[in-house]
Amino acid sequence: MKILVTGGAGFIGSNFIHFFLRRYPDDTVINLDALTYAGNLENLREWRDDKRYRFVKGDIGDMALVDLLVAECDAIVHFAAESHVDRSILGPEAFVRTNVFGTFTLLEAARKYGKRFHHVSTDEVFGSLGRDEPAFDETTPYDPRSPYSASKASSDHLVRAYFHTYGLPVTISNCSNNYGPYHFPEKLIPLAITNLLEGKKVPVYGDGRQIRDWLFVPDHCQAIDLVLRQGRIGETYCVGGNGERENIWIVEKLLRLLGKDESSIEYVTDRPGHDRRYAIDFAKIRTELGWEPSVSLEEGLQETVAWFQANREWWQRVKSGTYQEYSLKQYGK
Ligand code: NAD
Ligand code: TYD
Repeated sequence: MKILVTGGAGFIGSNFIHFFLRRYPDDTVINLDALTYAGNLENLREWRDDKRYRFVKGDIGDMALVDLLVAECDAIVHFAAESHVDRSILGPEAFVRTNVFGTFTLLEAARKYGKRFHHVSTDEVFGSLGRDEPAFDETTPYDPRSPYSASKASSDHLVRAYFHTYGLPVTISNCSNNYGPYHFPEKLIPLAITNLLEGKKVPVYGDGRQIRDWLFVPDHCQAIDLVLRQGRIGETYCVGGNGERENIWIVEKLLRLLGKDESSIEYVTDRPGHDRRYAIDFAKIRTELGWEPSVSLEEGLQETVAWFQANREWWQRVKSGTYQEYSLKQYGK
């Protein structure tokens, strides 16, 4: 199989490409990525000279380019997005352009050539849960509350519309918060780890008692692959990590793993419209496809801390803003 991965230079996309090329020695990947601030070719350095991997720098909103690439692949796995809630609050336009119009552009090309389309989405489209409410599942009504989640909700609706209207063979996965290797250090876990490794404090928004359901990224990659190959066409699968914790629990755990104490916490002003709790009921993908997370949150956090300790140069380049020039020069083949 030859797949077009969009956003493959980002956090989850690069983990997926590693997973896919290692697991399927006969399959090939085209990685279409615009290399925004979140794209880093160093994430994929080991594939630079591999014949099964090709990088194309470009925007998913570029209809002519997308048309050419979709024509030559068997399936599209769509990760490319603006992905950070805080950035969407400061500047929503890029979120609408990439997440909505970019997805539309890919769907148009997929429709023209009748290609299999898997859309990677988020649990944030469902809104915010109260402490005692049941977790989100595939039947939960949409209630997005940030420009990021609203743009992802729009893209989910478009993908479903292309299934119902044009019979496009689509699937969607809505997952919870990922963490693991190559996570961009603007999100809570990698920011906390790298700040602590630098002797800085960890900013905790509000009272720190918001809840996220953490999913180790290799488990997520496996779920996407299963849905791509065995998922029922037209269906949505919710993917969770069995890892519901308050943010402050996560931060305190990281403090302990890195030998720090509570003086490294800095409570800061809360995020506007901050969703209180996300949680996923993944019974459907477990029952239909036999998937469940294989790594506990404790193990995953230990592995993630070890990865950031072992890859200091990677995140130091990212944090100092020198990574793009460096990675294009070294790995931009
Ligand atoms: P990321 O921000 O790390 O990476 C996004 C990638 O997309 C980058 O490489 C960037 O250069 C690329 N990109 C952005 N705009 C583009 C454009 N117009 N054209 C081509 N490439 C473009 O994101 P991520 O955390 O890896 O998330 C991947 C997908 O998973 C997103 O669709 C996101 O909504 C979804 N998701 C992420 C999480 C999470 O916890 N990170 C949770 C749920 C869903
Ligand atoms: P984040 O990693 O940005 O993911 P999302 O907003 O998509 O869930 O944030 C995870 C949680 O951590 C969220 O409740 C906001 C909080 N947070 C902090 O407390 N401090 C921080 O510096 C960041 C980036 C997030």
